[in-house]
Amino acid sequence: MKTLVVYYSRSGTTKKIADEICDKMNCDIEEIIDNKNRKGLFGWLIAAFDARSKKLTVIENIKNDPSKYDLVIMGTPIWAGLMAPALRTYINQNKNQFKKVAFFCTHGGSGELKTFKDIEDSTGIKPISKLGISAKDLQTGYEDKLKEFILEINKI
Ligand SMILES: Cc1cc2nc3c(=O)[nH]c(=O)nc-3n(C[C@H](O)[C@H](O)[C@H](O)COP(=O)(O)O)c2cc1C
Repeated sequence: MKTLVVYYSRSGTTKKIADEICDKMNCDIEEIIDNKNRKGLFGWLIAAFDARSKKLTVIENIKNDPSKYDLVIMGTPIWAGLMAPALRTYINQNKNQFKKVAFFCTHGGSGELKTFKDIEDSTGIKPISKLGISAKDLQTGYEDKLKEFILEINKI
């Protein structure tokens, strides 16, 4: 199954999980770059506001055509209980290009269910697997969760 991992990460956590998924699976990887400044306190506040308002943003051109893949695994940090605007923009720009999808997110401790529903509603496709990694998981370990996520994908 030709697979692409595509993710947005502001501070590196979602990137770390994306890299690990890619290490364990034979797939291509693409980082979504948000051109809006998300740094500092002001950047944080605007980020939360943009996410909560389901705003789109300006992202850099992507390199991999998602329609060429059997499966696209999408990753985002949770912002204000929803996906980050960069992933929302990516999905919006590539609507109807996805065959199968799987989702993962990283977060401080809340918002997984709502975020997965948000991504599912945006893509219009039920994911074959979902993975949520909290700040606590990062400390205590998430190897089993990651294995389960990949196992679900490999059942297809
Ligand atoms: C603007 C903003 C809003 C956030 N909102 C939430 C939230 O609603 N729930 C939560 O558990 N974590 C929230 N977080 C924490 C991030 O989801 C978490 O730190 C994530 O792992 C960061 O991923 P990254 O390093 O890939 O950017 C928020 C972080 C930011 C910057």
